[in-house]
Amino acid sequence: MKITKICCIGAGYVGGPTMAVIAQKCPHIQVTVVDLNKERILAWNDENTDNIPIYEPGLSEIVAEARGRNLFFSTEVDKAIDEAEIIFISVNTPTKTYGKGKGMAADLKYIELCARQIAKIAKDNKIIVEKSTLPVRTAEAIKSILDNTGNGVQFQILSNPEFLAEGTAVQDLLNPDRILIGGDTSVEGQKAIQVLVEVYANWVSENKILTTNVWSSELSKLTANAFLAQRISSINAMSELCEQTGADVNEVAKAIGMDSRIGSKFLKSSVGFGGSCFQKDILNLVYIAKSYGLNEVADYWEQVVIMNDHQKRRFSNNIVQTLYNTVADKKIAFLGWAFKKDTNDTRESAAIYVADDLINEQAKIVVYDPKVSRRKILADLDYLETRTSEENADSIITFDNPYLSCEKAHAVAVLTEWDEFVQYDWQKIYDNMQKPAFIFDGRNILNKVALEKIGFVYQGIGN
Ligand code: NAD
Ligand code: UGA
Repeated sequence: MKITKICCIGAGYVGGPTMAVIAQKCPHIQVTVVDLNKERILAWNDENTDNIPIYEPGLSEIVAEARGRNLFFSTEVDKAIDEAEIIFISVNTPTKTYGKGKGMAADLKYIELCARQIAKIAKDNKIIVEKSTLPVRTAEAIKSILDNTGNGVQFQILSNPEFLAEGTAVQDLLNPDRILIGGDTSVEGQKAIQVLVEVYANWVSENKILTTNVWSSELSKLTANAFLAQRISSINAMSELCEQTGADVNEVAKAIGMDSRIGSKFLKSSVGFGGSCFQKDILNLVYIAKSYGLNEVADYWEQVVIMNDHQKRRFSNNIVQTLYNTVADKKIAFLGWAFKKDTNDTRESAAIYVADDLINEQAKIVVYDPKVSRRKILADLDYLETRTSEENADSIITFDNPYLSCEKAHAVAVLTEWDEFVQYDWQKIYDNMQKPAFIFDGRNILNKVALEKIGFVYQGIGN
């Protein structure tokens, strides 16, 4: 089967960058990314590719190259479904906020809507690819919806989870550690797998393309995220012990990371992991384990999230305690709001929870983030529903200049590891702050010795 047209439902952090790279690497395939969100599609089509809705290093250049040639962004979902031979589903799968499994299970309503839409529109055989992160055995539900249309169309369902990390999405897509494709063990299923393998083989060497059964593929994605997050919670657990014992968590991480069986990546202690997926996917895993009665398995993984919540709360508590047990009416300057550097994404960012705690203590929070707008910051706080929007707006001041943000502040808190923070003129910042001038480095990126020499009271994580 020669592929000429691909459609992707969902123009978000995964759908947008993934399809842009497929389009760049496969100029012979027409790639259409569709979304119900008109504003988002409009932004993807903005004449100036610097205004596309997702900030990722290198992405606007790829969009500029492929858009209009073989990459299209559109709200015409039905047309794109009808024309495509392969349909990727990259819609969001957030934690359920209602009903059974509230706060734990993945909400699959958007996935189901896609399946029903495809079932309604498709007139010829299609390969459906689960790109979204899904609970194991979701393909079964999708298949059941698709197979009951009665119009004779044959569907093959593949699982092809995405492993990109935000901030490095383009590099991760261009040079993936592996591509995972799960499919049915039948002859037709294997043929469908091969079709997708050939798409990726345009730029990924075949020894990095792993094929499995559907359930292994679905479960591998949740497992990968659980393992990654577990490493962070493990090192963060040690950070608290380091603070009590005089050990330095950076030194401990280096020492254990040099053991090739442990490895050095994902051992950076922090104010806590954020992002739209780690917590959501682990809670989903916990829910799945519980639904099979595997309570010990569920409890084991849930601890990763419990530890992460503790780490965020510990950071805000420490600020209050260090500032003489009160931050009421004090100015705390936040450097960073995004959940990690090089992204404008703030979903589940530790900054949101730390700010919420400090506002409860009546602090004034001044935020500077190079890529996050005031509107987004206030929306993040409003989403928690801790207080009214007006109260949130009164508690948050934003500047697009870091020096102004730190002026007259009682303390600076580093919440995101943006490179530019390291380069600042810290003497100038110190001169304009209240004294004693405190720094709480939630990312361990600043130079403690140099800052202490200037006169700051410096506290990192785990040292
Ligand atoms: P997102 O919220 O940025 O994008 C999802 C998009 O789907 C939205 O723009 C939404 O409007 C659209 N959508 C929802 N229902 C639709 C429908 N019926 N028809 C058309 N459009 C619809 O989400 P995301 O961050 O791209 O994540 C998507 C999936 O990928 C999730 O399952 C997530 O777990 C997974 N994932 C995310 C990342 C990441 O780094 N963000 C990485 C790997 C996997
Ligand atoms: C993560 C995974 O790394 C991706 O492989 C996966 O595809 C994605 O989730 C997903 O499924 O959504 P992402 O959340 O974009 O990617 O970013 P990460 O680099 O994993 O960082 C997540 C959080 O952990 C950030 O808040 C980061 O600051 C924090 N982190 C990361 C640490 O605190 N310490 C570390 O050593 C690494």
